Amino acid sequence: MENNIACSIIYFLLFLLTALLFYISKKQIWKDIQKAKLPPGSMGWPYIGETLQLYSQDPNVFFANKQKRYGNIFKTHILGYPCVMLASPEAARFVLVTNAHLFKPTYPKSKEKLIGHSALFFHQGNYHSQLRKLTQSSLSPEALRKIVHDIEALVISSLESWSQNNQVINTFRLLKKFSFEVGILAIFGQLDAKYKEELNKNYSIVEKGYNSFPTNLRGTAYYKAMVARRKLNQILSEIIFERKEKKTVEKDMLGNLLNFKDKKGQTLTEGQIADNVIGVLFAAQDTTASALTWILKYLYDDQKLLEAVKAEQRAIYESNEEGNKPLTWAQTRNMSLTYRVILESLRMSSIISFTFREAVVDVEYDGYLIRKGWKVMPLFRNIHHNPEFFADPRNFDASRFKVAPKPNTYMPFGNGAHACPGNELAKLEMLILIHHLVTKFRWEVVASRGAVQYSPFPIPENGLPSRFWKETRSLTDP
Ligand code: HEM
Ligand SMILES: *[C@@H]1O[C@H](CO)[C@@H](O)[C@H](O)[C@H]1NC(C)=O
Ligand SMILES: *[C@@H]1O[C@H](CO)[C@@H](O)[C@H](O)[C@H]1NC(C)=O
Repeated sequence: MENNIACSIIYFLLFLLTALLFYISKKQIWKDIQKAKLPPGSMGWPYIGETLQLYSQDPNVFFANKQKRYGNIFKTHILGYPCVMLASPEAARFVLVTNAHLFKPTYPKSKEKLIGHSALFFHQGNYHSQLRKLTQSSLSPEALRKIVHDIEALVISSLESWSQNNQVINTFRLLKKFSFEVGILAIFGQLDAKYKEELNKNYSIVEKGYNSFPTNLRGTAYYKAMVARRKLNQILSEIIFERKEKKTVEKDMLGNLLNFKDKKGQTLTEGQIADNVIGVLFAAQDTTASALTWILKYLYDDQKLLEAVKAEQRAIYESNEEGNKPLTWAQTRNMSLTYRVILESLRMSSIISFTFREAVVDVEYDGYLIRKGWKVMPLFRNIHHNPEFFADPRNFDASRFKVAPKPNTYMPFGNGAHACPGNELAKLEMLILIHHLVTKFRWEVVASRGAVQYSPFPIPENGLPSRFWKETRSLTDP
């Protein structure tokens, strides 16, 4: 009798197990992964793969040729990793938005160490979303409204200094200095000149190391960068100490980082704060400076467009009593042509031409298998230059933005979970700079064949050497 019951139970369990296995094997995901195949594409030589092909030419030509040959999804092998590259808006959305949890951010360890491991862009999940909310609110329109005036003052003093002595300047280099200072403003509000100077100098050493060979040998750029990075922590620590002494509660990004508490009441460590401050400075500087350099080039190359932008800005300038009244936030929101020029410049230059993620599990997309551990690269630039989405894509045409682009086809600031929280600040500083540049100054680009250089983002060759001067114009001029 007991035997019989035991037998029945075993049979019953076996039945359950079979049913379960049957169910799992019929499940769509499992079926998809089993029948999915790897994307088309060549992997090049063992280990080095196609790295040489990528870096021996314009990387954008490499991507464009691949897309022509294999379509919107293809595999390759670069820098020691198998990669899947994605050139359609749907695929980019799949990775960055709808299935962002299956693809983690990935950076070389040496670079992560230099910026600081706790910076938000290396993270996923809870820590990331908490810091992201904080960063976003520190860079939100409500927060930016309060610094319009400070940015304007910085724009005016920068333009004044560039136009001294009729000298030829490296536009990109000076714009980097400008965007660094705007970053400092957004993070610290008004900061002591002494700290600014120390941060700037040490940061530029970190930056030199960022793109050099990572080794801990004394005397190398990377080693010096690590030393400077530790000094940055010391400087930040002093700034934080001073703030705590004063007991003022500031509403800028540093203030928000210092006041942060998670659900359990945990605050951020000083190390976490430092990594995020340096991370934001890093994300803000070269990007904005490269984009602005392109804007100046595009405007210079199309004098008719420049005249139209000038007309728009002069109307505002005049309503501000020839610049005697400061620009207002509302005015910066009402520069429609200038704004479209910015959008089109970001599309044309696509300075962040792609990004990296890593698949955390095997993922099936559109019949193809993306293996766990493979790198995945959404190719923003290919999408921005696809005639299907942007007619005559090589032509600079700001008026195309009179109509909103198709969803997910325009991603100069990325998309989804890690999309740029600084995009409003970037656009704001561009608008203010253009306002003062075209209403009071003129500039001339000196010797440019229109070639592109990588720094690490694409910029016009030699940083667009230019001369700036103040426009002398009396009040009675038309
Ligand atoms: C024209 C200028 C800029 C461009 C084109 C740009 C572009 C981007 C892009 C494409 C991403 C997403 C990267 C990815 O998904 O892998 C990103 C992320 C980020 N950007 Fe920007 N950016 C600009 C300016 C700024 C500024 C001014 C700031 C801050 C003041 C900033 C802060 C950040 C941060 C913190 C992230 C990481 C967000 C996260 O991981 O959640 N960026 N940016
Ligand atoms: C780096 O910061 C330190 C403070 O920690 C400062 O004394 C030093 O002058 C800075 N380095 C440079 C090259 O400015
Ligand atoms: C926006 O600009 C237009 C002219 O381009 C002007 O007529 C209008 O008053 C402005 N609106 C605001 C809110 O400043």
